[in-house]
Amino acid sequence: MNHIIELKHISYSYENTKVFHGNSLILSIPQKQKNKLYGIIGPSGTGKTTLLSILGGQLNPQQGDVCIDTINIYKVGDKKRRKMIAVQMQTATALRGALRQNLVFGILDDTVLSDEEYLITTLKKVGLWSIFESKEGLDTLIGEGGLNLSGGQRQRLNFAGLYLRAKHYKPSLILIDEPTSSLDEISEKAITQMIDELSIQSVTFVVAHRLKTLDKAVGVLDTSLIQDNKELIFYSKTELLQASQYYKDLQEGKAELEE
Ligand SMILES: Nc1ncnc2c1ncn2[C@@H]1O[C@H](COP(=O)(O)OP(=O)(O)O)[C@@H](O)[C@H]1O
Ligand SMILES: [Mg+2]
Repeated sequence: MNHIIELKHISYSYENTKVFHGNSLILSIPQKQKNKLYGIIGPSGTGKTTLLSILGGQLNPQQGDVCIDTINIYKVGDKKRRKMIAVQMQTATALRGALRQNLVFGILDDTVLSDEEYLITTLKKVGLWSIFESKEGLDTLIGEGGLNLSGGQRQRLNFAGLYLRAKHYKPSLILIDEPTSSLDEISEKAITQMIDELSIQSVTFVVAHRLKTLDKAVGVLDTSLIQDNKELIFYSKTELLQASQYYKDLQEGKAELEE
């Protein structure tokens, strides 16, 4: 099936801040396109997180519609939406209880929960297993009243959860605010590979915090280029180099991606 991701003339403002006004996006991905990785970049405060939340079903725009494969995502129930879209946000959700439960949160199928080998392999990939192995393993209590995880560790745990959900539900769209802090080289490489793996399976939008993540991206959207009533465009990297000073600066090392 071809996939179509659409924003139809959306406007979104927080109390005092306008982020989108009359913006559209139409991305049509042919079934035969194997690699479906799309990057989102832009300086801090230009709307990357807001865009992800709108596409993920968490922020219903004040105006306009959001459709995935022609289905309005704000007109379906949570359960259906969860099968259409998998989201990982930048701010980790509050953690509590056993590691195992946090990892498979949102997966309503016990076969994943009980496949310990699979869960451990995934934790190893994101470089987290060593912390838990010496404790109670998958039963280690985390968050309030348990093992306190750093911000970076929480991000990686969130990402591992997203990976498991996405592999399980095979949604049409995967949205990732890429984990960044305290990644060693090994887990950095593993996470890039996991993102690449997901983007073969589903259309994947990733807010990139490392240029390396964009290596395989077939299109990149720079949120600093957004203008009222204009279309949001995923450019090829060569096109973006012409269109975006910010991207040019990044390439030349004159600017850095937001941490
Ligand atoms: N919850 C919020 N309440 C009010 N303003 C917000 C909120 N979240 C974001 N903003 C504002 O909206 C704009 C876009 O923010 P955001 O989408 O977080 O950008 P980015 O992810 O690119 O840094 C910024 O000006 C930011 O200050
Ligand atoms: Mg953000």
